Amino acid sequence: MSGTEVESRKKGLGHFDPAGKRVLVRVDFNVPLKDGRVSDDTRIVATLPTIRELMRRRARTILMSHLGRPKGGPDPRASLRPVAARLERLLGAPVRFVAECVGPEAEAAARSLADGEVLVLENLRFHPEEEANDPGFARRLAALGEAYVNDAFGAAHRAHASTEGVPRLLKPAVAGRLMERELEYLGMLLERPARPFAAILGGAKISGKIDVMTSLLDKVDRLLIGGAMMFTFLRAQGRPTGRSLVEEDRIETARSVMEQARARGVELLLPVDCVASTATDGSRPGHAVDLDSLGADEIGVDIGPRTVRLFGERLGDVRTVLWNGPMGIFEVPDFAQGTLGVARALAEAAGRGAVVVVGGGDSVAAVQQSGLGERFTHLSTGGGASLEFLEGKVLPGVAALEDREDR
Ligand code: 3PG
Repeated sequence: MSGTEVESRKKGLGHFDPAGKRVLVRVDFNVPLKDGRVSDDTRIVATLPTIRELMRRRARTILMSHLGRPKGGPDPRASLRPVAARLERLLGAPVRFVAECVGPEAEAAARSLADGEVLVLENLRFHPEEEANDPGFARRLAALGEAYVNDAFGAAHRAHASTEGVPRLLKPAVAGRLMERELEYLGMLLERPARPFAAILGGAKISGKIDVMTSLLDKVDRLLIGGAMMFTFLRAQGRPTGRSLVEEDRIETARSVMEQARARGVELLLPVDCVASTATDGSRPGHAVDLDSLGADEIGVDIGPRTVRLFGERLGDVRTVLWNGPMGIFEVPDFAQGTLGVARALAEAAGRGAVVVVGGGDSVAAVQQSGLGERFTHLSTGGGASLEFLEGKVLPGVAALEDREDR
């Protein structure tokens, strides 16, 4: 059974009455912090529909999340306190915070909640038992609530105590609104995409994307490749790559992807030009160059303007698109034009009625940077989780939720 078949059968918030109950909600508030403040609140905003619904329905909402990868105990730099402050601002209502996630202090805070109130617990990963999916730790978390909701799609590929252990112990265990939305849009890509269906994959390396690429070759009509991973494909075709990033041990993989695409009638599009520079950090200027003329000392840092046009043309008639991975080093403004060009082409496709889904932290950040986020059908909050889902894997955090009886 594929991941989507399992996941589309999960119960949601409509399946129980949360009024007056302590509802323990796993959210993915793993957001970037800068100088002690949240620098990108996309994931918090994405969870608001679930939190607002629980507040409206008079639940006593207890939010739990990880933040970063702290090792060996509490680390003030990874505290969720600034996240609670941002949430309070977004909700326009008081949000309580407790500096523990289990034990007497957390229990007292949970029990003191009134109907409609919200509490944020401290970072789950301050306890190594969270990632170890320790049964005792899961019991201590479960003791805080009377119902469990998982809205943390971004962490659903982790079999941790808060994602996998707690829902085994605490019922009802249902999906939140964000989780449902993620499963619906990503599931649609795998199960019933309107055609033509194109995937655009970018990023530095083939190695992290090979499983999703192989899975998508069975589904898509077109596969467009950008980002540094294009150079491993170009090398496989025996073309010049200069000093660009080439995964020597993946050249065979690239060749095999091209062969599989041919055998399945999938149109595989590689860039025709790139932006080349002698440095990747923006300290040297870049210039557009046809790929066959890339100099031996040059590094490809973005797709070029002809490629942006070519990709735009091949996206002209699509009805479903998945985009994962930037087209170049978009953190450097001079090398971001390819990524922004693709974002513009996709916003236009969405404007024409195509379903446009963006998966993965970097591409979503690029879309936000382009200011076009509102025009996309769905921006996934999952990086690794969206990739694993699209590979057809069962996500443990989803599998642990209760199945709907009506399906
Ligand atoms: C993410 O940012 O992809 C999720 O929050 C999961 O974080 P992790 O990779 O540290 O488990």
